[in-house]
Amino acid sequence: MIYLDNAATTFPKPEAVYAAVMDCMRNYAANPGRGSYDMTIKASRKVTDTREKIAKLFNIPNLFNIVFTCSATEGLNIGIKGILKKGDHVITTVMEHNSVLRPISYLKGKGVKCSIVKADKDGFVNTKDIEKEIRSNTKMIVVNHISNVTGSIQDIEAIGEVANKKGIIYMVDASQSAGVLDIDVNKEHIDILAFPGHKGLLGPQGTGALYIREDLKVSEFKSGGTGSNSYSMEQPEFLPDKFESGTLNTPGIAGLCEGINFIEKTGINNIRKHEMELTEQLLKEFNSREYITIYGRKDMRNRGAVVSFNISGKDSSDVSAMLNSRGIEVRNGYHCAPLVHDIIGTQNKGTVRISPGYFNTPEDIEALVRAVEEIHSINI
Ligand SMILES: Cc1ncc(COP(=O)(O)O)c(C=O)c1O
Repeated sequence: MIYLDNAATTFPKPEAVYAAVMDCMRNYAANPGRGSYDMTIKASRKVTDTREKIAKLFNIPNLFNIVFTCSATEGLNIGIKGILKKGDHVITTVMEHNSVLRPISYLKGKGVKCSIVKADKDGFVNTKDIEKEIRSNTKMIVVNHISNVTGSIQDIEAIGEVANKKGIIYMVDASQSAGVLDIDVNKEHIDILAFPGHKGLLGPQGTGALYIREDLKVSEFKSGGTGSNSYSMEQPEFLPDKFESGTLNTPGIAGLCEGINFIEKTGINNIRKHEMELTEQLLKEFNSREYITIYGRKDMRNRGAVVSFNISGKDSSDVSAMLNSRGIEVRNGYHCAPLVHDIIGTQNKGTVRISPGYFNTPEDIEALVRAVEEIHSINI
C-alpha cells in the first residue's frame, strides 16, 4: 500500500509516537490536572512538556496560551465564534477550508458581516485585496497558510503586518503548514493560530492545539470541569483552563509530544526538503503528460506538498478508486474547500489530490505515475 493523503492526516507516524501512546495508555493515563497522586502528576507533566514543545516550535512566549483541542476544526471554531459578535465584520479568503467557512456562515445568520477575498487562478491571495476590504468594524482576518487543494502558500507575514497596523485580530489556519514550515507568531503578528496535531506534527488523530495571544478576549466555547477553581460554578477565565474543560486526550498528547520530538530531531527544513523533492518529481512527471491538468502552480514557487490534478476525460472519483485498486491511496473530490473550485475551474468535478509526506519515497511517486498512465490508457 502506498499512502499519499498526508494532507488529510499523516501516515505512518514515527515509531516513537505509537510507543508513547501505548506507554501512556498502559502506565499513566490518569486524569491530568486532577488529584495529586503519582499517575496524575506524570500525566500533567507530559501535557506540560508537550505545551513547551509547541511553544518552542512557534515562538510562543507563554506556554499557558496554548490550548489543546481535538482538531484544527475545534480551534478554528473557538477562535472564530469566540471573537466575532453581531455587527462585527470579518475578512477571509476563497482558499479557506469549511472549518473556517462554515463557522463564519453560521455567524452570518447571527448578524456578523463577512468579506471573502478572491485569489488568482493558482490560489494566491494578494495582501492588497485584503487591505481594500477593511472597514471601521472589521474585527478579524482569517487566512489559510497553505492551501489543502492547490498547495499555494499565502504571505502570512505581510497580511499580519496589515492586521497589526490596523489593530485587527489576525487568525491563521496552519493546518497544512504546522510541522513543515517555520511559523513565528511574533514575527508574523499572529493573534490566534489553529493547527492539528495529526497532520504535519505527526501526532495521533484526536489532537490539535490553539494559540491565543495574551489578553485577547475570546468567549467561552464549552464549560465544565477543569480541575481548577473546582468549588466555583463559574468557568475559569484564565488560559488554558478556560478552553480545556473535560478530560484531555493524554495518550494522544503523549503521542503528539513524540511527533514534535521527531520533527526537532529530524529538522523541519529536512522534512520540508524531502517533501519538496517528492513534489518536484511529481510535478515534473505530470507536466510532461498532456492528458493531465494540474491545478495551482505547475512549478515549485511558494508551494507545499499538495498537488491537485485531473486526467482528461476521467472522473476524479473514478481515478481515485482505480488508484486504490492498485494499492495507492489518494483523496478525490472538493477537499472541504468549496470556494477554491470556482478559482481553479473544477466546480463540477473536483480534483484528485496527491499529498506526499516525510515517509514517502521517490519510488512511491514512480509507482503513482505508472498507475496514472495505466488509468489514462483504459477506456471507460
Ligand atoms: C486547510 C485546512 N484547515 C482545516 C482543516 C481541518 O483540520 P482537522 O481535520 O484537524 O479539523 C484541514 C484538514 O484537512 C485543512 O486542510
